[in-house]
Amino acid sequence: MQHLIRGRVLDFHADPAETQDNHRYWADGAIIVEGGKIVAVGDHADLARPDLPEMDHRPHLILPGFIDPHIHFPQLQVIASWGAQLLDWLNTYTFPEEARFADAGHATRMAGLFLDQLTAHGTTTAVAFCSSHKTSAEALFSAAHDRDMAMVAGKVMMDRNAPDAVLDTAQQGYDDTKALIRDWHGKGRQRYAITPRFAITSTPEQLAMTGQLAAEHPDCHVQTHLSENRDEIDFTLSLYPQARDYLDIYEQHGLLSDKLLLGHSIHLHPREIARMAETGSRAIFCPTSNLFLGSGLFDEAGLRGAGVVSGIATDVGGGTSYSMLQTLNEGYKILQMRGQKLHPLSAFHWATRGNAMALGMDDSIGTLRPGSAADLVVLDARATPAMDLRMERAQTLAEELFILQIMGDDRAVAQTYVAGRPCKT
Ligand code: GUN
Ligand code: ZN
Repeated sequence: MQHLIRGRVLDFHADPAETQDNHRYWADGAIIVEGGKIVAVGDHADLARPDLPEMDHRPHLILPGFIDPHIHFPQLQVIASWGAQLLDWLNTYTFPEEARFADAGHATRMAGLFLDQLTAHGTTTAVAFCSSHKTSAEALFSAAHDRDMAMVAGKVMMDRNAPDAVLDTAQQGYDDTKALIRDWHGKGRQRYAITPRFAITSTPEQLAMTGQLAAEHPDCHVQTHLSENRDEIDFTLSLYPQARDYLDIYEQHGLLSDKLLLGHSIHLHPREIARMAETGSRAIFCPTSNLFLGSGLFDEAGLRGAGVVSGIATDVGGGTSYSMLQTLNEGYKILQMRGQKLHPLSAFHWATRGNAMALGMDDSIGTLRPGSAADLVVLDARATPAMDLRMERAQTLAEELFILQIMGDDRAVAQTYVAGRPCKT
């Protein structure tokens, strides 16, 4: 059965930072949905039919749902933990909280709540780190599968430098990952990401097995962390004294490819940037986290200039908001500190098609092309009195988008559709 979703429709077909002809906008637009997919997009006058049930969101904007390419599922109750930078924050707050996810009942309850938070904030696909416990990944995949929501996720592999309750072993990490790939990768909309947490918490033996997994499953993503914090980098290099630099550790274990998602990627050497560009490895910018943990200022223009593809993500619970709007807000400010500009069209491209391209998934998400999933966000730029007041002066679509980017959060998300189904009641 087809249905029609009406509103002011916007999607991107090119990167505004690179191409003038980059988006399509229908002031009275419509999207026809069938079986969870988009079958047509265009002017309402051209697509409306008397037999089609219609959901009218005018005057709100409808875009492809936001994509969050780096978030930690077991950190729902870590967000807003006071006073520490990365390594202390992990030891004091994060590892003890992740230990709770050994309990399947806890993991299941949190999985539902996690997906509720994502859709409440307009996010329809996330790339998630789970805890080291197989149960945590099973709970997340199972909940996402039930909702027909596209999730990329993996249990973290970590076999040292953390409490026993969150450690696996090289062999256990390999076996659990194999079993999860078998059970979940390609099941409905679920995809597996091989997930060595970062070099500090993996022995060389575990990273070698991670490389083996990546070679055995070249269609799986690999996600980890790179050069987030100076103390982290020093500790990492002391653990791998042979490495030329931090990236070299992952390179020596066969992890560099266009499937590799490198969270943070802040304090990089020219050799690392060049190798990321040559291998297609992705940098993932996590602005609210980088400010909250005092980690540093991501160099978007430098990486772009060198040919590195970047995504932008929340990194909850180091990140402080599930909102990709708030993530774009803080991203704008970090780039200001670097003398760089994040134009609102580029920002909304990044959170949708740009992130989909960073994941190599732009054939199915991040755009409104017929054939892609009907994953949509409906945005209200007048959601709060302050936004409403500011909107009185907005003349252009770009101005409206910038108001959403700077002032918006979950209150500005009027509706979220996952596979054509509304999630907000
Ligand atoms: N590096 C290793 N683990 C983590 C994590 O959970 N959060 C952040 N921000 N950085 C990490
Ligand atoms: Zn992270």
